[in-house]
Amino acid sequence: MAKLGVNIDHVATVRQARRTIEPDPVWAAALAELGGADGITLHLREDRRHIQERDLRIIRQTAQVKVNLEMAADPQVTEIALDLLPPQVTLVPEKREEVTTEGGLDVITHWARIKTCVEKLHDVGIEVSMFVDPDPRQIEASQKMGATAVELHTGRYADAMNQHEQDLEFEALLAASHDAIERGLVLHLGHGLTYRNVQRMARIPGVCELNIGHSIVARAIMVGFQQAVREMKTLIT
Ligand code: PXP
Repeated sequence: MAKLGVNIDHVATVRQARRTIEPDPVWAAALAELGGADGITLHLREDRRHIQERDLRIIRQTAQVKVNLEMAADPQVTEIALDLLPPQVTLVPEKREEVTTEGGLDVITHWARIKTCVEKLHDVGIEVSMFVDPDPRQIEASQKMGATAVELHTGRYADAMNQHEQDLEFEALLAASHDAIERGLVLHLGHGLTYRNVQRMARIPGVCELNIGHSIVARAIMVGFQQAVREMKTLIT
């Protein structure tokens, strides 16, 4: 059964829109837990456009479920991870100008920089997951890098314009998932998942964790955070 990692970045996006103190992602993390979240995911971006170091610090102290820090393989944010010790880091590519994380990490091209970061994280016992496209070369590179897990990018599946396109992306994710598991990697999936498209992903054999943010936060505005998380949890179980 897939676990639900609730990404709370967009609670912080609303707060940062006014540079004020509410809504507090720390509250959202607590409510997500009450709604049945198995993990809290948050992305500390270089430009600090949503999550702040303070959020990560408090959530590390208060969350009872796994904290998954999404971050770029960047020396500054690595230092923060080494200080605050989230049990899991998901390495993602990061560009300042993107609205959200657009493609998967290119582990092959950026091998040396990523390796340095992974080694530092491993030295302090942080598990590392690589956010990669459903591409066998990237999965193989992640395994060689010593990652514990891969999070396969489900964005193309989520953005498919019709059933045929979605079926093709689903097949690609299914094959990549199988490949990752065969290589001994823990399988995570995420990006662009919604109440409408999640069930097919949750049924992929061996999937361990689904990381979902925008759709849950969007629903939470209407029905409350706990309820939104509960509804997502029901769909994936
Ligand atoms: N997984 C990763 C690696 C991400 O970068 C994001 C977006 O921050 C998510 C999952 C969640 O994506 P969404 O907000 O589209 O559910």
